[in-house]
Amino acid sequence: VKRNTDVVLEPVMLSRSMRNLDRVVQAVAPKEVVVTLIGESGTGKEILARRIHQLSPRRAGPFVPINCAAIPESLFESELFGHERGAFTGATERVRGKVEASSGGTLFLDELGELPLPMQAKLLRFLENRKFMRVGGSTKVTVDTRLVCATLRPLEEEIRAGRFRSDLYYRIEGITLEIPPLRDRPADIGALTEQFLAELSAFHGVARPKLGRATAAALEAYAWPGNVRQLRNAIERLCLLRPGKTVRLTDLPTSLQRPASPTREQRSAHGPSIEVPLGQLLETTVHQVLLAVLDAEKGNRTRTAERLGVSLRTVQRHLARAATP
Ligand SMILES: Nc1ncnc2c1ncn2[C@@H]1O[C@H](COP(=O)(O)OP(=O)(O)OP(=O)(O)O)[C@@H](O)[C@H]1O
Ligand SMILES: [Mg+2]
Repeated sequence: VKRNTDVVLEPVMLSRSMRNLDRVVQAVAPKEVVVTLIGESGTGKEILARRIHQLSPRRAGPFVPINCAAIPESLFESELFGHERGAFTGATERVRGKVEASSGGTLFLDELGELPLPMQAKLLRFLENRKFMRVGGSTKVTVDTRLVCATLRPLEEEIRAGRFRSDLYYRIEGITLEIPPLRDRPADIGALTEQFLAELSAFHGVARPKLGRATAAALEAYAWPGNVRQLRNAIERLCLLRPGKTVRLTDLPTSLQRPASPTREQRSAHGPSIEVPLGQLLETTVHQVLLAVLDAEKGNRTRTAERLGVSLRTVQRHLARAATP
């Protein structure tokens, strides 16, 4: 598997909210309507923008992303619309801009809310008649492109704050899709983890790490403030640090080792429970819990360790200590 941004991996959309979202995506993708994706950082705005392009009749044309937050204001116009030879110092030849490059395909305006106001006016002018002039040019260029936009915050908020032109907003107002943060769709975490393990171990040419049960449960219970991107990075780290090995809870970053509160599925995954008198010595309680889990795992120490989120050595040490009075 190559990490090639032109190759579209099927996005994982297993959770109910993502399945509902994908139903809308499939309905609007083939239509010539502007789609605006709203979602926190790392939720998958770009992967969905590419999916929309792939599901449209323009799929054979180019998909051209432009990050409105990353381009210095002074370079914007030429970045977007290109320039003619001699338009400014250093402009030794005619250069096509992103808009022209997206002809016959899709222009993805990422972080549109960050587009500087003067550029918003120029973008609006282009959208009104699909014509523009390259910087330093005098002839109008016509381009047939489809717009997909992404923003962290709703554009209405940016309008109220005076940072976004309402006339541009009305021009691009089409279908708005909200991508839920990963913490609101834990049902996607297992499948995403599987996909990233396969993809990234192949990419790095290493044997796939194996995940213990407690590790998988911790991944599912974590809130992932950096969303899918953060999960992908975490899995990449595991592929590099634990190739071919079993990943234990202790191999995860500490923030993942102590989930705020276990999910209902997690609690039931832990299965049977034991009762412990509160006055009992901690050591005795630890021992009872260990034996109960060992029993539930039919004496398998490796699985016991995984389930308790400790190393095999810790389990062995406990059992050895209990055996020698
Ligand atoms: N549903 C998904 N299935 C598979 N991979 C996903 C999914 N969503 C996101 N990813 C992966 O997670 C990473 C982040 O996704 P993407 O770049 O699309 O997010 P984004 O919302 O554009 O993030 P940012 O706001 O940081 O630019 C990418 O590597 C992407 O391939
Ligand atoms: Mg992005």
